[in-house]
Amino acid sequence: MITSAKFVISNSDVRKCPNDNRPEFAFIGRSNVGKSSLINMLTRNGQLAKTSSKPGKTLLINHFLINSSYYIVDLPGYGFARQSKGTISELQRIITSYILQRPNLYNLFLLIDCRLTPQNVDLQFMRFLGENQVPFSIVFTKSDKLSTTTLDANIKSYMNTLAEEWDPLPPTFITSSTKGKGRDELIEYIEHCLTLA
Ligand code: GTP
Ligand code: MG
Repeated sequence: MITSAKFVISNSDVRKCPNDNRPEFAFIGRSNVGKSSLINMLTRNGQLAKTSSKPGKTLLINHFLINSSYYIVDLPGYGFARQSKGTISELQRIITSYILQRPNLYNLFLLIDCRLTPQNVDLQFMRFLGENQVPFSIVFTKSDKLSTTTLDANIKSYMNTLAEEWDPLPPTFITSSTKGKGRDELIEYIEHCLTLA
């Protein structure tokens, strides 16, 4: 259960992130995939994380304290080609340094738009996580945009592609921030991870 969610700090430097060693659950994925919207859906606070219909909204590491006990972290997106080279490499630096330098990162939720076939940028990102032993799960977003039949078929096909590289497959969740779908499952999973500490 999420009973409180408070914004704590935004920054571009992982060394300035909260140093109280509380467990963290971070959200990553391509720009515009719905990371910030999902955090707002989970916390039932539409104003908590800043969202936009245009990609490239979140540009910093954002810490939100949940139930005074753990953090949800909103990260910038990757793979938005229309940013300047300087911005792209700065965002890459922020994302990489955060992911590799947070021993208290319990789980990274990697968001994937359920309408898309597997994209190289995401598959490569998963390989990077695997090589660095970063625990992650997959969250399919925007499920309200597809019929049940198409959604099922897309996810099956996506997981078949992943199975060529991953055994076991990462845990997966199907969500819609507009409909609240997947909220209970994600929160339950976070709480399950917290009990393993
Ligand atoms: P960056 O911060 O730019 O990396 O993007 P983000 O991944 O945080 O995406 P954001 O949450 O800002 O959402 C991007 C757009 O997708 C917004 O217009 C949202 O309203 C929309 N969106 C996000 N989640 C959903 C969803 O589940 N369903 C629908 N229909 N739209 C969604
Ligand atoms: Mg965002």
